[in-house]
Amino acid sequence: MIKVITYGTYDLLHYGHIRLLERAKALGDYLIVGVTSDDYDKTRGKINNQQSLMERIAAIKETGLADEIIVEEYEGQKIDDIRRYNVDIFAIGSDWEGKFDYLNEYCKVIYLPRTLGISSSDIRAKNRKLRIGTVGNGSVCNKFIRETQYVNGVEYVECDEIMENVDAVYIATHPDRHYEDVKRALEAGKHVICESPIAKTVSQFEELSGLAKKNGLILEDGIKTAYSTAYSRLLVVAKSGRIGDIVSVDTVCTSLVDGAGEEGADLSKKQNSICAWGPTAMLPVFQLLGSGYKSKTIVTKLINKDLNYDGFTKVDFLYDKAVASVKIAKVAKAEGELVITGTKGYIYVPAPWWKTDYFEVRFENPAENKRYFYQLDGEGIRYEIVAFAKAVESGKGNYYISTETSRAIVKVIEEHYHRNYLEIS
Ligand code: CTP
Repeated sequence: MIKVITYGTYDLLHYGHIRLLERAKALGDYLIVGVTSDDYDKTRGKINNQQSLMERIAAIKETGLADEIIVEEYEGQKIDDIRRYNVDIFAIGSDWEGKFDYLNEYCKVIYLPRTLGISSSDIRAKNRKLRIGTVGNGSVCNKFIRETQYVNGVEYVECDEIMENVDAVYIATHPDRHYEDVKRALEAGKHVICESPIAKTVSQFEELSGLAKKNGLILEDGIKTAYSTAYSRLLVVAKSGRIGDIVSVDTVCTSLVDGAGEEGADLSKKQNSICAWGPTAMLPVFQLLGSGYKSKTIVTKLINKDLNYDGFTKVDFLYDKAVASVKIAKVAKAEGELVITGTKGYIYVPAPWWKTDYFEVRFENPAENKRYFYQLDGEGIRYEIVAFAKAVESGKGNYYISTETSRAIVKVIEEHYHRNYLEIS
């Protein structure tokens, strides 16, 4: 019996895939199809799959062409599979010409001509045409614009004053302006990703959320960390009980900025610590412990009282069964790490934890420690745009940051602006 193996993502299965599978099958008697897992695809830079692994497998199954379907999860797996399944022929489309010659050592390698004029990327781009403009300027917007080019079906368009030529906007203005900028966009019928905090008071936040809901629009909180793979997995591990009950969540985010708090300077200098770092630093606290804390204490060091510009702030939260602390600064420096303390062990994310591809679960006995590595592209912004495009498409919003979490973040910021804090000089 001649065994043939082939691999692919097979997102939105199309006739190019089917023709490939038919020809691969005709090369032998038994066809094994390797379907790439979502995580593996991410490491290959394929972040846009519209269908989940299970959906993609189901579609292959339905063709009736595969005698066996396996999942491809890691680099180097092909050699293992060829040996494990006693494969005679490795077949793949000609877009990979030459790339798998190294497998000739293990079996015969055949490149089959790719069907012209069709690809999953084209179908995704056709299905999803989202024109995004930006409101604001500076390096944050430029980064966002750069990242849009990696997401299928999302196109950056310079947006005019009335936003007529776009479907959605990314807002990265000064937080003082977020409320009116978001409102203007939602009233114009545009979906919005806004850098956090979305507003500076809870009532403004409620109004904007209500407006988005009423108009059937997506309003996404732009905390890029929330969308990164390592961070999402860390939440799952923390909530799974691996480290026991969580008793403390401690985060630190600092960046020393020259000219911090000076009037008329650019956004990074004008934005105080609580707005610039507060949302990111509070994210794991609310996502792990919820927003139902019993009390909190805000301690702050103001460097420009008129602007409520805090150069350093520490917030301590007290919950029924846990505590949390966030330390943020623009005129002070500390190790930017995240530690989640549990009754059985702890999770440690090294600095800068907010753009990490790695975390560790540590125990009393170091032999039990485990390290987790994930792909991180574009500091998470790329995944944030993918999530946004998916949310717009499904009309369901995204599950990365709940409204409750966004509201809890806004609430602390509002209290800071109401000067409900203790001051250090
Ligand atoms: N394939 C093909 N003809 C096409 C598209 C794909 O023969 N028009 C083949 C590929 O060469 C590969 C297999 O189908 O052997 C799976 O390809 P995959 O990467 O999943 O499909 P694409 O349509 O190329 O996906 P994308 O646009 O995301 O790269």
